[in-house]
Amino acid sequence: MHGEADTSPSDKRTLWFVTQNHHKYQEARRILNPFEIEIRMLASPKTEIQSTSLGEIAKFAAQEAAKKHNRTILVEDSGLFVKVLNGFPGPFSSYVHATIGVGGLLHLMSGETGREAYFQASLALASPRDSSQEFSGKVNGTISHKPAGKQGFGFDPIFIPKGARKTFAQGGTEFKDKYSHRAFAFRKLALWYIKTKI
Ligand code: IMP
Repeated sequence: MHGEADTSPSDKRTLWFVTQNHHKYQEARRILNPFEIEIRMLASPKTEIQSTSLGEIAKFAAQEAAKKHNRTILVEDSGLFVKVLNGFPGPFSSYVHATIGVGGLLHLMSGETGREAYFQASLALASPRDSSQEFSGKVNGTISHKPAGKQGFGFDPIFIPKGARKTFAQGGTEFKDKYSHRAFAFRKLALWYIKTKI
């Protein structure tokens, strides 16, 4: 059940993903599915420390949640880094999206011809015994001049991955899974996870 950890023995090899973002969870599921890795959503609140490092933010939250729930926990932290804004909003992407939104970000970039940006996702997998592993994924691209497309979430309507001609929000799930920072990070996790016994 979403948001609840049950403790049946069959869950031993289940990855518990602490997030309240259903889009992230669905993306993770799609990527892990071919590897036959089961993932479940644990919609429990997590601590987000003040840091400019997505990896550190994810690691702290994963270690705290692993102890709290006494199980191996996965946390992801991600952000959009815009070159002409010196990497803003980066680790503040969630807050910036919730406050000024896609329109506000485009406004900050109005008149700018340099549109380069990247998305990064950092994953931390932590066990209650303090060990942790990190995996990250990055996708370079550009910020469009206006929003396009209705799929996905966050800044998907304005991000065009390098080598493509449409935004994540126009492309849909297959397109997102081919290019996204999250897909890269989860594939790295999967390749490590199927070889280990955590
Ligand atoms: P957090 O990882 O929960 O702190 O949130 C990261 C924020 O970055 C999200 O709320 C989105 O605004 C943005 N973001 C991260 N990944 C994506 C993505 O795949 N598409 C669109 N926006 C994203």
